[in-house]
Amino acid sequence: MGKRALITGITGQDGSYLSEFLINKGYEVYGAVRRTSSINTGRLSELDILNKINLVAMDLAEITNIQRVIEEIKPDEVYNLAAQSFVQTSFDQPIYTSEIDAIGVTRILETIRMLGGNIKFYQASTSEMFGKVQTSPQNEETPFYPRSPYGVSKLYGHWMAVNYREAWDLHACSGILFNHESPLRGIEFVTRKITLGVAEITKEKKKSISLGNLNAKRDWGYAGDYVNAMWLMLQKKTPSDYVIATGEMYSVREFVEKAFNAVDTEIEWVLDDGVESGRCKKTGNILVDINKDFNRPAETDYLLGDATKAKEELNWKPQVNFNTLIEMMVKKDLDRVENDVYGF
Ligand code: NAP
Ligand code: GDD
Repeated sequence: MGKRALITGITGQDGSYLSEFLINKGYEVYGAVRRTSSINTGRLSELDILNKINLVAMDLAEITNIQRVIEEIKPDEVYNLAAQSFVQTSFDQPIYTSEIDAIGVTRILETIRMLGGNIKFYQASTSEMFGKVQTSPQNEETPFYPRSPYGVSKLYGHWMAVNYREAWDLHACSGILFNHESPLRGIEFVTRKITLGVAEITKEKKKSISLGNLNAKRDWGYAGDYVNAMWLMLQKKTPSDYVIATGEMYSVREFVEKAFNAVDTEIEWVLDDGVESGRCKKTGNILVDINKDFNRPAETDYLLGDATKAKEELNWKPQVNFNTLIEMMVKKDLDRVENDVYGF
């Protein structure tokens, strides 16, 4: 019989791709979903895997729930992907974010320890823990300096995974993943906001996109490549932590330009009375305006990862580059807008 995996956050971007990946590897996949008033399995349906997954009710806020589910399922591997994952929201909901992204991790780790410690554990750590970066590029040795309640909460979860590995000999790995995107990315994140906006403008459903800090830079990869790395980490005999990144960094501004290029539109940045906008070079129409509401109280200005350890020890490297990622996202959003089917 194949291995059994429990994925928290299965309804999210990474949970969906990881489920598909593990199903293809012959795993029996269990997905933890929190109770909501409406069905939230659009991504799993879009990948056509919903009927291949066993969904179980589990909220990271509730330890009794976590204990019962893990004891009953007896998974070989637990992938903890559930989180309040939007940095902006964490400034408005810092306590809730800590409850899920920090303490939630301890609830799972403690459950695994109480059940004998034989379940392998993956923690979804993040480049946001580097925040105000101390050196560049960032690798596993780079000091952390989180810049948001999200980053601070994730850093707690990260160290808990390390601590349970060292104190209780748990097979716990943290993947320090840099930003990864896809057509299944949530629409509040900047990449998807841009690609959906470009599609809506192209299909004349919208006139412009409002954005915040255009100068922030990120190391953007493809989510489908990154879930592979999660699995590879848990297959190693000795657990460890790994940076997963492309090693290339681009600004939000560059992302906008490339996304419009994908629909043959050239953007020109214009400064008018100190106010910047992105205009169509051909028509002069404003396609991007700046709204300070999207700025962060404390910003992570740039992130650039060095995934040498993952390359050497896991034989992992990204397959999809920046341009292909953007084209893939714009194409999918054009289809969705054209057919008025958004899925999630
Ligand atoms: P996502 O699309 O926002 O998915 C988050 C998932 O967590 C959703 O399934 C959500 O359920 C679930 N969740 C939230 N609160 C929960 C709770 N209290 N109990 C149970 N489930 C809960 O995030 P993602 O992009 O797939 O990221 C996956 C993980 O990797 C997250 O932990 C994120 O912080 C981390 N990460 C992401 C990136 C990235 O660039 N994508 C980079 C580094 C680390 P609902 O569907 O009900 O909301
Ligand atoms: N969301 C958003 N919306 N971001 C904007 C906007 C906007 O309108 N305009 C500019 N940005 C800038 C943000 O200020 C940030 O610097 C950058 O775009 C990326 O923002 P997000 O796409 O929201 O992602 P993130 O980098 O804050 O967080 C993502 O990556 C982390 C890994 O570094 C999330 O997936 C986190 O869960 C993940 O841990």
